[in-house]
Amino acid sequence: MSVSPLSRLKEVAVSGRYSPKENFSISWQSPSNIALVKYWGKKSGQLPATPSLSMTLDKARTTTRVDVAFDAPRKGLLSVNGDPDHPFLPKMQMLFDWLSCGIPALNGITLHAVTSNSFPHSTGIASSASGISAFALCLLTISCRILNLELSGDELMHMASYAARIGSGSACRSLFAGYAVWGETSCLSGTSDEFAISSAAFVHPDMLTLHDAILVISGKPKSLPSTQGHQSMEGHPFFSNRIIQAGQHLEEALRALSANDFEKLCSVAEREALTLHALMMSANPGTLLMKPSTVEVIGLVRDGRKNGLPLFFTLDAGANVHVMYPDASSAEVEKYISEVLKPLCEDGRVIFDRCGSGPVMLNEPMPSHDCFSS
Ligand code: PMV
Repeated sequence: MSVSPLSRLKEVAVSGRYSPKENFSISWQSPSNIALVKYWGKKSGQLPATPSLSMTLDKARTTTRVDVAFDAPRKGLLSVNGDPDHPFLPKMQMLFDWLSCGIPALNGITLHAVTSNSFPHSTGIASSASGISAFALCLLTISCRILNLELSGDELMHMASYAARIGSGSACRSLFAGYAVWGETSCLSGTSDEFAISSAAFVHPDMLTLHDAILVISGKPKSLPSTQGHQSMEGHPFFSNRIIQAGQHLEEALRALSANDFEKLCSVAEREALTLHALMMSANPGTLLMKPSTVEVIGLVRDGRKNGLPLFFTLDAGANVHVMYPDASSAEVEKYISEVLKPLCEDGRVIFDRCGSGPVMLNEPMPSHDCFSS
């Protein structure tokens, strides 16, 4: 693969082979992901301050269709779900503007996006990861089509990861089956700050069957947007140590995933989750996103583990708790979740998901699935 993932596309883009064609639509469905080693804090250029590692989800997906017109008078990305002021449009616009600098042909077309999530809003599932990765795939597929360029599946995911990062950092990890690593680290070859890589090759097969039950403690939108959260790491008194710790945690998590060492994964994932929240609490101003039920659920997850159940928790930047467990023990852990943890959730809401196999291109836009259980 080339050093600059977009160089081949750009080469064709400036060679002038582009000629307007018939209008068409492209649809992709892309999953969200949950970080086990967290990305929190960035360098300029939308680059991460630390490496991160995530598990790609299966059912929590965004389906996006982009309708392309060559003959409309106004050019550019004009609407999302028919709305020119859709709240998700600025992130998509950022990605579109960045990509169209390298691929000028994108400036000569009109785009309308239609997008829907398979999961309910404000449940602690990152819709920007699934939404931006789906949109990046649509834009690159559109570019290839109008430039008569064929890319292999791996090349497309690689480029989409590179581009998705511009709209939302964590989105660049959603392009791969199983697990993905984003951010340069000496403990894994091929890593980069500019795109994520698949870690499927060195993950034990049993780890590809992990489940993630998302316990909705609060359905309210989180009070700390991630852009603000990343910024709060600038000048943070603990940040230089956090950078060292994230590297060590990544190495530990990768070893646990390849050795199928569930206990080691529990330990590192829970330390990561608590560190993320500790960093937020100790920033200036400090932010407390956990609710009393978040803390109660964490205690009960640990009690369950003491009593022999294989499960651990992780948290995103919010109050909701992700409970992870192996497929082989799913019946007993899910019984514990339903009987003991679910009563602490808002309206008893739990979303059962698991490790997934990455994005798919659709011939027909599919209806969203329902992975919501109450
Ligand atoms: O991708 P962003 O800018 O929304 O940041 C994501 C940050 C966390 O979700 C808290 C952690 C992560 O690595 O996904």
